[in-house]
Amino acid sequence: MDFPLFYLDSIGNRLLMAVIATVHVMINHPFAVGAYPLVALIEWWGRRTKSPEWDRLAYRVTFVLFIVTTTVGALTGVGIWFTAGLIAPFGIGSLLRVFFWAWFSEWLVFVAEVVLLMLYFLMWRHWADGWLKKLHLGVGVVLSVCSLLTMVIVVAILSFMMGTGSWNQTQSFFSAFFNPLYLPQLAFRTPYAMLGAGLLVWFLLFFFTRRGTEFRDRAVRFVALWTLFWTPFSVAGAAWYLSAVPIAMKANLGVGLLTQAYEQWQATFLIVVGLAALVMVAVAAAAAVRPRLISQVVLLFPLVLGLYLLGHFERAREFVRKPHVVADYMYSNGVTMEELPVFQRDGILRYATYTAHKTVTPETRVGAGQDVFMIACSRCHTTGGVNSVVTRFRKLYGDGPWDNDALLAFVQSMHISRTFMPPFPGNDAEAEALVAFVNDLRATGRTVSGAQTTGLPPAAPNP
Ligand code: HEC
Repeated sequence: MDFPLFYLDSIGNRLLMAVIATVHVMINHPFAVGAYPLVALIEWWGRRTKSPEWDRLAYRVTFVLFIVTTTVGALTGVGIWFTAGLIAPFGIGSLLRVFFWAWFSEWLVFVAEVVLLMLYFLMWRHWADGWLKKLHLGVGVVLSVCSLLTMVIVVAILSFMMGTGSWNQTQSFFSAFFNPLYLPQLAFRTPYAMLGAGLLVWFLLFFFTRRGTEFRDRAVRFVALWTLFWTPFSVAGAAWYLSAVPIAMKANLGVGLLTQAYEQWQATFLIVVGLAALVMVAVAAAAAVRPRLISQVVLLFPLVLGLYLLGHFERAREFVRKPHVVADYMYSNGVTMEELPVFQRDGILRYATYTAHKTVTPETRVGAGQDVFMIACSRCHTTGGVNSVVTRFRKLYGDGPWDNDALLAFVQSMHISRTFMPPFPGNDAEAEALVAFVNDLRATGRTVSGAQTTGLPPAAPNP
């Protein structure tokens, strides 16, 4: 919490992060992790069967991969860490300390991946025969390995945020890396990325092969078999992963999937997800048997469904670890579990560097409440935008004026009734100040801005 706080009152920090991360995963998994191996396989198959059509297909698909992964893919990938660094510098700081060498290796692998992709795509026509073609195939294989490796490393960090395992005692790099959720999550993401690549290449096929040709039938069947091959592994991975998620996190799943308002639809939603998966498998099976039955429009469904499921999976993953940014260690607002009792005893403002107030007095109550809000709530709530704290209280207590005692009771027990929110990290006076601030927001309808707009407050004297 010891940073000036970047804060967007419109879409909120959570949504900003979610959009970038979700778009990235939707590109990374099918386009990079899954598609390079599939393309390399198609290229190899073309060489083996001595048919230039396969080679041409692989080349054209690679053209799309090349454009998409080096633009939107790379930008959103770096964008995730930029955004996370802006909105949760404390979280990134902690993760960097634990995972420094993993991150460094990740950077090397990523650079290698980009260089190899350039070589693979740009040299396709030049390295066309003899040993040069073999070299080209080799580049495709190493590119696939590098791309997989980036995921192998990053998943360790993502799963660590959901479950730190024995790291809290050992503080060792390897216990952090091989945290309890690491292998299950990897076991799900890897085959699902391969499956997603199948859906993607399938769809592209229809642009890159001619209708009614025998080659199109063969290609549709080839990719259908690839997709079907990875389906049972994806299902098994998903089951393993779900069984490894701690019970406390599963309690958040309903809200994570659908927000509080639609939480009771969880069962229905899961049925819809199951049906969507079945549709994908049915289309793949039909394509494997009767490739000509399948038209381009039909193939759009599995692709859109597959991407949607992946996006929703990311959303749920980001949500269920709440109220923590790093499980069992740090809350989403940057307060560590170790610090919490101290802040609740002494108040959090006196330990904060970038706030206008260090104590709560009757004259400064609303202003101090704003500081408390920024520290304790603004990572997830806004004052006038998405997940606005005013709207939230209005839903609970009507249009107001609100009863201060009721609000106070809510704030001090919110982590118990809503397990996705952290405990209030301040003393009683600060909780009262927060309530006064929220009431003021309601009465005046004003909103607040982050440090990127307001600048830093004048240094307040220490109490
Ligand atoms: C880790 C993120 C996070 C933090 C930090 C957080 N909240 Fe929330 N809060 C949420 C989410 C998510 C919801 C539920 C939104 C929904 O219904 O989908 C919520 C809901 C609420 C609600 C409505 C509860 C209901 O049952 O309708 C209130 C009121 C609220 N928060 C107040 C606060 C206050 C005050 C703070 C700061 C002291 C705070 N929250 C901190 C994530 C957070």
